[in-house]
Amino acid sequence: MNRITVSAPGKLMLLGEHAVVYNRPCIVTAVGQRMFVTVERTKDGLFELNAPDVDVKKYKKPMQELGQGEIAKGARFVEIAVKNFKDKYYFTGGLKIKTKSQFSSQFGFGSSSASTVCVIKGLSILFGKKLSDQQIFNLAYKTILNIQGKGSGFDVAAAVFGGTLYFWTGGKFIKPLNIKELPLVVGYSGVKADTVTLINEVKERANKYPQVIDGIYDQIHALVEEGRRSVLKGDWESLGELMSFNQGYLVSLGVSTKKLADMIYAAKENGAYGAKLSGAGGGDCIVALVSPSKKPAVVKAINKVGKVINVKGNVEGVRVEG
Ligand code: PMV
Repeated sequence: MNRITVSAPGKLMLLGEHAVVYNRPCIVTAVGQRMFVTVERTKDGLFELNAPDVDVKKYKKPMQELGQGEIAKGARFVEIAVKNFKDKYYFTGGLKIKTKSQFSSQFGFGSSSASTVCVIKGLSILFGKKLSDQQIFNLAYKTILNIQGKGSGFDVAAAVFGGTLYFWTGGKFIKPLNIKELPLVVGYSGVKADTVTLINEVKERANKYPQVIDGIYDQIHALVEEGRRSVLKGDWESLGELMSFNQGYLVSLGVSTKKLADMIYAAKENGAYGAKLSGAGGGDCIVALVSPSKKPAVVKAINKVGKVINVKGNVEGVRVEG
């Protein structure tokens, strides 16, 4: 086999962001807009990447120079993923890789993690290595840490395993929560959030008020545990309430914005069970939990302040497309 196409889903955080960076759990769901990556073996000894969604066209370098010299911003995750795979599982020859996303890299759905996971899965099949999901997670998470230096890995887990997961920092526990559906409405703020900057801002606050922030993380941990039970029971009313609690703590951590809050109020005033920002904050998306009968009103209200993204939760993880 010389060529393979693999896809992986994006993600949304249902409960637990920020606290999950500091040895605590979160709940994440995989979303039904996917990243597609085609990996092809070539004989020329070159690494070539085309990623038009992030303005990377015909980016080339010799395979032995992976990770060295200048790396185009949009090429970092794919290049380092290939390097890490090659360092661990050695292979010869070149590679031509193309990425294509169904979602904008601006949404905060985790395009970098999804493409990293696709590359590692694709290479493992092309080179006949039978990697388990956990092994794919480990190598993809290492790649993210090599580049960002920070992160819990929850987005990598969503891309690999899919579904809805109870996830603990660094993948210490990754437990699928087996449910059939998740009644989500997602609103996009139009603003791109920078995850590492926000993690650093929260860290500065934690340095100034260590006990206060640690107490908030403990409360978030408690509502994640409660939320896990609600998810398993399909008790969306309780899960929505817990999401709204969680939003309160995210406001306390200083990561919410007026635009996010406006969308959250729009959802709640029109009958959502609950709503919160998803991810680092500062922009990206909100996630609301909404019964089918209230959905049209909630969608309309969010669209007045932001933009609803039509997306399903709880979808399949990384898979081969052909
Ligand atoms: O900004 P996002 O969607 O990548 O989410 C970041 C969530 C954090 O908990 C702040 C960081 C992390 O890696 O868990």
